[in-house]
Amino acid sequence: MATVSKLLLLLFYSYCSLVAHAGDSPSYITGSIKTEAVCSEPKAAPSSSAGATVTLHHRHGPCSLTPTNQTLNVEKILLSDQLRASNIQRLLSAAANATGDAQKLEATLPTTLGAALDTLQYVINVSIGTPAVTQTVMIDTGSDISWVHCKPCSPCHAQVDPVFDPSESTTYSPFSCGSAACAQLGVDGGAAGCSGSQCQYIVRYLDGSNTTGTYSSDTLTLGPNVVPGFQFGCSRAGSGFEVEKTAGLMGLGGGAQSLVAQTAATFGPAFSYCLPTPQASSGFLTLGAPSGGGGNFTTTRMFRSREVPTFYIVFLEEIRVGGTRVNVAPTVFSAGSVMDSGTIITRLPPRAYSAMRSAFRAGMLQYPRAKPLEILDTCYDFGNLTRVTVPAVELVFDGGAVVDLDVHGIMIFDCLAFAPSDDGGASSVPSIIGNVQQRTFEVLHDVGRGTIGFRAGAC
Ligand SMILES: *[C@@H]1O[C@H](CO)[C@@H](O)[C@H](O)[C@H]1NC(C)=O
Ligand SMILES: *[C@@H]1O[C@H](CO)[C@@H](O)[C@H](O)[C@H]1NC(C)=O
Ligand SMILES: *[C@@H]1O[C@H](CO)[C@@H](O)[C@H](O)[C@H]1NC(C)=O
Ligand SMILES: *[C@@H]1O[C@H](CO)[C@@H](O)[C@H](O)[C@H]1NC(C)=O
Ligand SMILES: *[C@@H]1O[C@H](CO)[C@@H](O)[C@H](O)[C@H]1NC(C)=O
Ligand SMILES: *[C@@H]1O[C@H](CO)[C@@H](O)[C@H](O)[C@H]1NC(C)=O
Repeated sequence: MATVSKLLLLLFYSYCSLVAHAGDSPSYITGSIKTEAVCSEPKAAPSSSAGATVTLHHRHGPCSLTPTNQTLNVEKILLSDQLRASNIQRLLSAAANATGDAQKLEATLPTTLGAALDTLQYVINVSIGTPAVTQTVMIDTGSDISWVHCKPCSPCHAQVDPVFDPSESTTYSPFSCGSAACAQLGVDGGAAGCSGSQCQYIVRYLDGSNTTGTYSSDTLTLGPNVVPGFQFGCSRAGSGFEVEKTAGLMGLGGGAQSLVAQTAATFGPAFSYCLPTPQASSGFLTLGAPSGGGGNFTTTRMFRSREVPTFYIVFLEEIRVGGTRVNVAPTVFSAGSVMDSGTIITRLPPRAYSAMRSAFRAGMLQYPRAKPLEILDTCYDFGNLTRVTVPAVELVFDGGAVVDLDVHGIMIFDCLAFAPSDDGGASSVPSIIGNVQQRTFEVLHDVGRGTIGFRAGAC
């Protein structure tokens, strides 16, 4: 690989360069650039729901609970994102090979998440134990097992919240090796044997990081809601989370261990979230379906792979740039698209990517190009401009669901925020809908109805 100098960019210069602003033309979006960061309360409420809602923050945004120097190692973030994306594709391709057919997906429950090191993840504030200890954790629809760093530890993980001490909680209980919860871990691949008589878990994330410790239960508090006997990992060792100042991770995937599966009996088998732009308001994560039935959501069918039940899969059918359909055969998308809150940049099959890139570049001729940034090959030099106009990008999903992306879902670091999948010579490779493209939408994962819904302008 060519040597690329490390890019340490000041967050609010590099990352918040475009501010969403509806343009006059339906085919173009105009946005301000290099705007000051502002933190405000959510500008829009979640859909009303009988479930639990917690505020969601961008990990590096001004509303972030974890104070940082607000610089990001962009090169490292994008490399880590690439590793995760490649591994998602490998997993799904292997699953398709195993069944002999990529189409054998079932229209039922979703689940998926993956934590990345030093990357643009989203966090929520929850509490664990009795008395309740506040813990700021990343959310991940690409994995199932939730965990927090635990005592005893030496040295302890550097984090803003106190490290959870199970010996101080009257409701904490480690699972024994013979427990049903431990047996389920074995079935799902998260088991790591016994230590004493205590069940050990392990999660290996797709970007190469990992965590291991005692599989346990304790009371989880989500805002005003209390979840007794929540199953999670008490992490005693791990790799790849050294830079994170968060206390752990909440798994929202489709598997049996995820928060969604564990709370389905209480809130129903559904959840939604809104991922805020870095400089904007907070978003939210809601467990349970909207009580109005999700009337204002544009919906598409949700699929699930039997071999990889964690992932929530949808089918992309068409991409429109500047109001015009990008000319690629719909079969290019036949391997499906994973909805993944833990992948940053959306990955498209190479043929689809190159066609949409051509259309996008054609609509950007007024701006000088800049050199590529790792996987991002369509970058611009906006010089001292404070507002730029970019072609609108719409993703059209199975059933005709049109998702008109926010400007923050089109551009990142002054580059087109899309990249090609690794094709590995396969005729059809999965796409990944990353968190940048999901920004500002309320994204509803309705596992009960088997749909994914999008509601624009939710945060
Ligand atoms: C911020 O950066 C400065 C200089 O690089 C360093 O001394 C300081 O410890 C950093 N602060 C935090 C909170 O990381
Ligand atoms: C799937 O099968 C094809 C043809 O047998 C093979 O070339 C490819 O490497 C396999 N892919 C995976 C991920 O196993
Ligand atoms: C996190 O939640 C707890 C309990 O609701 C609250 O007391 C605390 O102030 C919150 N912390 C932050 C940083 O929002
Ligand atoms: C976790 O990852 C590190 C670094 O890749 C590796 O050395 C270690 O063996 C892994 N731990 C487990 C339990 O797989
Ligand atoms: C849809 O949005 C409209 C306008 O914001 C609102 O009045 C209506 O109550 C919403 N419907 C549902 C089912 O949420
Ligand atoms: C922006 O740069 C151009 C050319 O470098 C210059 O002519 C113009 O005055 C600058 N505008 C502002 C607002 O600084």
